[in-house]
Amino acid sequence: MAKRVCVIGTGYVGSVTGAVLAELGHQVTCVDSNNEKIQQFANGPPFPLSEPGLPELIMKHRGKNLFFTTDLPGIISKSEVVFVCVSTPTKMEGIATGSFDMTYVDSVARSIAAHSRGDMVVVEKSTVPLRTAERIEEIFNSVSSPSQRGKFHVVSNPEFLAEGTAVKDALQPDRILVGTRPNDEYARKFMNELYSSFPSEVILHTMIWSSELAKLANNAFLSTKITQINAIASLCDCSGADVTEVSKAVGMDNRIGNKFLAAGIGWGGSCFGKDVRALIYLLRHFNLEAEARFYQAAHDLNYLLRERFVRRIHESLYSLPNKTVAVLGFAFKPNTDDIRDSPAIDIISMLAAEGANVRVVDPEAGHKVKQVYGDKPFAYNILVVESVAEAVDGADAMVLVTDWDEFKNLDFKAIAAKMKKPGWVFDGRNICTPSKVVVSGLNYYGVGRGVIRTQS
Ligand SMILES: NC(=O)c1ccc[n+]([C@@H]2O[C@H](COP(=O)([O-])OP(=O)(O)OC[C@H]3O[C@@H](n4cnc5c(N)ncnc54)[C@H](O)[C@@H]3O)[C@@H](O)[C@H]2O)c1
Repeated sequence: MAKRVCVIGTGYVGSVTGAVLAELGHQVTCVDSNNEKIQQFANGPPFPLSEPGLPELIMKHRGKNLFFTTDLPGIISKSEVVFVCVSTPTKMEGIATGSFDMTYVDSVARSIAAHSRGDMVVVEKSTVPLRTAERIEEIFNSVSSPSQRGKFHVVSNPEFLAEGTAVKDALQPDRILVGTRPNDEYARKFMNELYSSFPSEVILHTMIWSSELAKLANNAFLSTKITQINAIASLCDCSGADVTEVSKAVGMDNRIGNKFLAAGIGWGGSCFGKDVRALIYLLRHFNLEAEARFYQAAHDLNYLLRERFVRRIHESLYSLPNKTVAVLGFAFKPNTDDIRDSPAIDIISMLAAEGANVRVVDPEAGHKVKQVYGDKPFAYNILVVESVAEAVDGADAMVLVTDWDEFKNLDFKAIAAKMKKPGWVFDGRNICTPSKVVVSGLNYYGVGRGVIRTQS
């Protein structure tokens, strides 16, 4: 049976959640406090974010069973379930530094408490600290008046989608995790009905605290797996081994698997860093210092890789002032325009601060370059260009930062002809075939593959 759904927060998670719930046949209204975003979703394309497959889903359902509004009170009062999809960024200073900043969740919980009518299922879709449901229930119990409400059912249903494949991930999930309070049969049944289009074995019911923690654990596993292969890559750089071969050998062990084993300049994005930091905070909160140190080391190594990569560029070019460096990629990964915690930002900042002229090209995220560097003293060193050819024209080095398909199989002969000599390719994602680069007359460095110099 179709449910009346309200989705709060129309970012990368909320917009996909809303569109996919509409595709499942529910009556969905997406709300955001950002009016410009809502207007774009209501009237676009263009839409405020780039995610493959999302425009098609929105166009299919908009005006039928998918709506966009800023009227939070109005829509809460008409809904039977609310998905909380607002951001939970890292708290960067003051008390509880490193944990999630819960300002947005807190504010949304108060609005739900004030405006809901009748029984209401409240779904934690945002990634939240352990035992957040308890805090939300506390708000409901203290803010809402018994006369205006039915019963609140807080459910943890964390999101595992990956940007770039979010729509596919949400329509064909590995699992749908549903954490509920003991004996809350209403919530369990409601969530089963909501997701009844999926095979029942995909839906995993757990206690609510396990579900909240599973999301953090999931991202901790994924991010540390990448960091492990990057640690091995550092050893490869010092020893002559090739990390792509090591990774292939390790990944063929089916106990390990070959995903998330590509060495490079490390992970970025809005989730891994903040979720690992929140896990570290949580471990320290419970005096689990040794466990916290384990994750802290992995986290710190990930960010050190960005600096080490720039040191490598500096060493190879001897000096950076007045050198021109073409940076391929600005998004934190391919198929998205999301630049949050993108390694490109740190790398470009370091290069430009050292005096290099940086030309940036990205298929989707180039327009965000100005937003990031607009007021920086070295901003005049950074130029956004439209094509790889433009970026490498007269450049001393080409730096591959994001592994967009467009940057695989480049024509290095044509690139070498445009670049200065000795030209360098620094492959931060190991997407080039080194022999093709060096045969074109360029020097090559790949993370964990060492330096290969051209013979010419
Ligand atoms: N982005 C991902 O790949 C991903 C994956 C899984 C989980 N998550 C989690 O999902 C949550 C949302 O992530 P995101 O990337 O979609 O964030 P986002 O920043 O892209 O979107 C959040 C949206 O919430 C809106 N918002 C904030 N406060 C509001 C309020 N009081 N009322 C209405 N709208 C409000 C903002 O305007 C924004 O549009 C986070 O907790 C994140 O950790 C993200």
